[in-house]
Amino acid sequence: MSEPAGQLDTVMQESRLFPPSAEFSAQSRIKSLSEYEALWNKAAADPSAFWEELAKNELHWFTPFTETLRWNEPYAEWFVGGKTNASYNCLDKHVAEGRGDQTAIIWEGEPGDQKKLTYAELLAKVCKCASALKSLGIQQGDVVSIYMPMTPELAIAMLACARIGAIHSVIFAGFSAEAIAERNNDAKAKLIITADASWRRGKALPLKHTVDEALKKSPTVKHCIVLDRVNEAVHWTPGRDHWWHDLMRQASAECPATPLDSEAPLFILYTSGSTGKPKGIKHSTAGYNLYAKKTFEWVFDHRAEDIYWCTADCGWITGHSYVVYGPLSAGATVLMYEGAPNAPQEDRFWDIIERHKVTVFYTAPTAIRAFIKWGDHHVTKHDLSSLRLLGSVGEGINPEAWMWYHRLIGGERCPIVDTWWQTETGGIMMSPLPGAIATKPGSCTKPLPGIIPQIVDASGKEVDAHHGGWLVMAHPWPGMLRGIWGDDERYREVYWSKTPGKYLAGDNARRDADGYYWIMGRIDDVLNVSGHRLSTIEIESALVSHPAVAEAAAVGRPDDLKGEAVAVFVTLKSGQPNEALRKELVQHVRKQIGALAQPDDVRFTGSLPKTRSGKIMRRLLRDIAAGKESVGDTTTLEDYSVLASLRQDEE
Ligand code: WTA
Repeated sequence: MSEPAGQLDTVMQESRLFPPSAEFSAQSRIKSLSEYEALWNKAAADPSAFWEELAKNELHWFTPFTETLRWNEPYAEWFVGGKTNASYNCLDKHVAEGRGDQTAIIWEGEPGDQKKLTYAELLAKVCKCASALKSLGIQQGDVVSIYMPMTPELAIAMLACARIGAIHSVIFAGFSAEAIAERNNDAKAKLIITADASWRRGKALPLKHTVDEALKKSPTVKHCIVLDRVNEAVHWTPGRDHWWHDLMRQASAECPATPLDSEAPLFILYTSGSTGKPKGIKHSTAGYNLYAKKTFEWVFDHRAEDIYWCTADCGWITGHSYVVYGPLSAGATVLMYEGAPNAPQEDRFWDIIERHKVTVFYTAPTAIRAFIKWGDHHVTKHDLSSLRLLGSVGEGINPEAWMWYHRLIGGERCPIVDTWWQTETGGIMMSPLPGAIATKPGSCTKPLPGIIPQIVDASGKEVDAHHGGWLVMAHPWPGMLRGIWGDDERYREVYWSKTPGKYLAGDNARRDADGYYWIMGRIDDVLNVSGHRLSTIEIESALVSHPAVAEAAAVGRPDDLKGEAVAVFVTLKSGQPNEALRKELVQHVRKQIGALAQPDDVRFTGSLPKTRSGKIMRRLLRDIAAGKESVGDTTTLEDYSVLASLRQDEE
């Protein structure tokens, strides 16, 4: 009894419902379910008209646009004919409207050093940095790679590029020289901005040294700007290398924002694909900027007095949209932290929240699971009463981790916004609007206004409630990617060929009877056990609900009898694995989900192999489960860190 291709069985039942408090709703931007529904319905009836009105009101236009959407599948152009500038919208607009003295960035370095920048101060630095780029020959349309620690200068570099129409390509400062060179060459970057080193758990990571190696293989890069962050000795190539502080000292303070076409590329961001080669996801100026701003305001229910902290690094899309472009366009006060969550101790985040009185906190499930493992005492010794709203992004949050986040961090008072989106979507697509939509642990709840998701089978037909299928978007939206850099064919193939007319997100999802969406994992993470398609996340959630388990990953491995067998990898909160526990976990999944999902293999590991953005490396685990990767002695806790680091650059 196999399902039609593209459909999934669901086994997860989650009935807990958490409505926002009346007090929270009363103060929010969108105050009730009916208000949300009215807005969503209005937007769905005429998405172009909906976005047109917002674009006119929310962005600064040097030249107004004449056409809202030109849709030539799979290419969208939004706000055609208009000229704007993302750096202007993030900075000049606030200063012009009298908010220059408001704090834009509160920054804390890992060693404890701190900086605050007002909007006026940030603008002045961005102007100087943009002038410096121009003095090194950077022009509109040139690509600039950025490989920097989480310092204010990273945001300044991004905004300086945006100011003059240069296209930034931020490369997470943990990637290897090989990965940097690959990205430089694919994008034909002309310049790279880096730092001598960055702090990570008290150690200086030599960024400049890695860039030196990369530049041996990056013929298009002519200049390298180096921020002195750590005071490390560095190699110097005269003529090519320039200190950030020297350039900033000499640079002109005058650098008006260049009026840019709405569709001028704002940035490229490389992300993993299902083959090894990373995809350069291309984003636009006006559409992306509007989408990042509005989704920030809606989802984080932005209030002027908020101290907002998103823990993502600017090397990922979350850092682009919800550290820089979204919150700064909205005039928010953004906290930025440079280092590790366990430096010097495992309570660093809670210490930061207490000292800076953070009100909105946005992090990733992988971090939440680490916090749970480290123990509640790190949390409970801090006063977290300033918090009013919590967010999660990057992967599904297992209901048990959700409940911990809700209880320990949110004090049972803060709504949790579980935000589903992708590098490709530019901004959040589905999430609770915290004053309007009651949450269910593990569900990203409902689409934002202007977003029209559907769940379809492989023939493109919508499936019924409760049946899982492919998640697609039925209408273009302003924040959507504009293509893959230099690879139109791959863009069509990956996102538009299987479900013509609709954007294929690559995730499986289902919608329940209340219209809530549940993400079931990537399409290629699906297990097919005896003709039943099972979602990996449901099995993982069952495992994590066992008190001994900290983290779990489920993958399929070939099995003659069942097609696929279920292999799970488990890390424990504490203690050593034993046979009794192994049996108990198998029974636990069986009880929670059913015999069908019962794991065939249970492997214990000290830590799960993860990509640098914190996603579990499932391809590696699949290979291990299938016996294609030898992991040596499996009688003790397994350690995949060496295998994982070998594979980092291909994920
Ligand atoms: C997964 C991160 C479940 C999903 C912004 C998506 C999620 C991929 C969630 C994109 C969520 C992200 N619930 N799954 N709230 N958020 N994902 O490009 O599989 O790094 O397709 O963007 O992460 O990852 P990316």
